[in-house]
Parts: sequence; C-alpha cells; structure tokens
Amino acid sequence: MSPTPLYCAEPARRDTAHRLAERFALPLVRQQPTEGYWLELGPERLELRTNGKHGAVYAEFVEGAARHRREQGGGRGQPVAKAIGLKGAKELPRVVDATAGLGGDSFVLASLGCEVTLLERSPVAAALLFDALERASVDLDTMDIARRMTLVHADAIQWLAAQAERPEAERPQVVFVDPMFPDTDKKSAAAKKGMQAFQQVIGDDLDSAALLAAAIAAATVRVVVKRPQRGPAIEGVKPSAVLEGKSTRFDLYVIKALRPQA
Ligand SMILES: C[S@@+](CC[C@H](N)C(=O)[O-])C[C@H]1O[C@@H](n2cnc3c(N)ncnc32)[C@H](O)[C@@H]1O
Repeated sequence: MSPTPLYCAEPARRDTAHRLAERFALPLVRQQPTEGYWLELGPERLELRTNGKHGAVYAEFVEGAARHRREQGGGRGQPVAKAIGLKGAKELPRVVDATAGLGGDSFVLASLGCEVTLLERSPVAAALLFDALERASVDLDTMDIARRMTLVHADAIQWLAAQAERPEAERPQVVFVDPMFPDTDKKSAAAKKGMQAFQQVIGDDLDSAALLAAAIAAATVRVVVKRPQRGPAIEGVKPSAVLEGKSTRFDLYVIKALRPQA
C-alpha cells in the first residue's frame, strides 16, 4: 500500500504538520489530493479524508461519543471492562492495547482508571491517535485520562516479544487485541466509517495468529480478543472462555490455564 499523504492548508499549523510528517514518516504534500485517502491537518484536528464515500475520520477523546461514554458510560459492568477482568478487581491491571486503532477501547479502559499502553503500527492511525491525545491532554475533563494513555508507534508482535523477556512484574498483565479481519461483518463495518476507511488505507491484519501468540507469551494474567459476534476465533490457541455482548464477542485466554507455571 502506498503511503498516505499529509496535507495542511493552515499557515499557523505548518510546523505541527512538519513534526507529524517526520514522526510518522508521512509524505507532506503542498496540494490537497483529489483522489484516494489523505491526512489533513486543519485548525482544530488531524483528519483522514477522502472525496465522496464518507466524511472525515479522526480519533476523538474529548467530544462526541467519548464525552457520552465518559458521562454516561457503563462503568466496570460494561462488556469490555468485564472482559479484561475489572469487575470486582481489587487492583487495576496494566493493560496493553496491541491494536489501538482510533483508541476507542483504550479510552474506555483508561477512563475506568487503567494505565494503558496503546500499540499501533499504522502511521496513519498512530498520527490520528497522537493528535487526539494531544487535544485530550489539554482539556480539563480528559487530561487525567490522557495521562494514563501512552502511545507507542510499533508493531505489537515485535514489541510484545521484547516484553516476554522481561521480569514478570514489569510485563503487561492484560493484552487486548482487536484486529481487522477480512470477514468483518458487513453491516457493522458499513456503520463504522472509521473502520471502513481503515480497511482501505491499512488493509486487513493477516498476521493475527502471530499477534495472539506474542500476546499470550507476554501477558501475565489474560489476553482478550474482541471479535464480531459470529466471527471465527483467531487461529491457534483455543479461548479459555467466551463473553458474549450484543454485537461483539470477547474471547478470553487465561494465562494460568494456558501456562500453569506462570
Ligand atoms: C480494528 S482496529 C482496532 C480498533 C480499536 N479497538 C478502537 O477501539 O478503535 C485494528 C488496528 O490494529 C492495528 N494493528 C493490527 N495489527 C497490529 C500489530 N501487529 N501491531 C500494531 N498494530 C496493529 C491496525 O493497524 C488497526 O489500526
């Protein structure tokens, strides 16, 4: 896939655009592209844009759905929180979100108090996350949550392999995995323009089995895989338990059951 260009029409934001281009190895262009997808840095935020198909896609932790979740969210009873083991937990686990995407799941977990490391290998998604985290870190309502979210632009398979070599007390307790599958449920994919755009720009994650193996080797408590309700489990290790949500399923890989000596 050819690299996604970055365009900025705002003279006041050109320095920021240069820094983003350098940090995420994005080609900075002088003209707004007329086809395909491009990143555009506007006066307020960084967006992934295209002509026609759908509106701009961006990561957002302050307004919109994130605000709603912050104010009305289901607390530790919501499915993703239950899946990572928050319900009834005395201590909050150190979580690694191995497939951060637009950061929605990481944000929920950080809102509930977890320290979350967000791993993202796509420069486009990592740049969108970086921009959203910068905005969240200067807003009074979200700065504490943003402080608990650490973005790492890296391939999770390699990053987790390095973690597996570290002492147990320093390794992630929970690794959360939500890859893009070629089989993604068409109805929900259409509803989520963000993921539709990602499918075009990033493509499917065809190495999920290797990612699951790396996650299991690194985690000390559990690995959680998010899947569409009727999607197949990731190939390889069988889940130890399954938690069904309305449209989403969580496959749980409990480390003590898989690696009894841990
Ligand atoms: C379906 S999206 C995740 C959506 C995310 N849970 C959210 O709430 O926005 C999958 C993301 O994982 C990233 N990804 C897949 N495999 C990865 C890997 N091995 N290392 C880092 N990122 C990966 C993809 O680039 C993509 O951005």
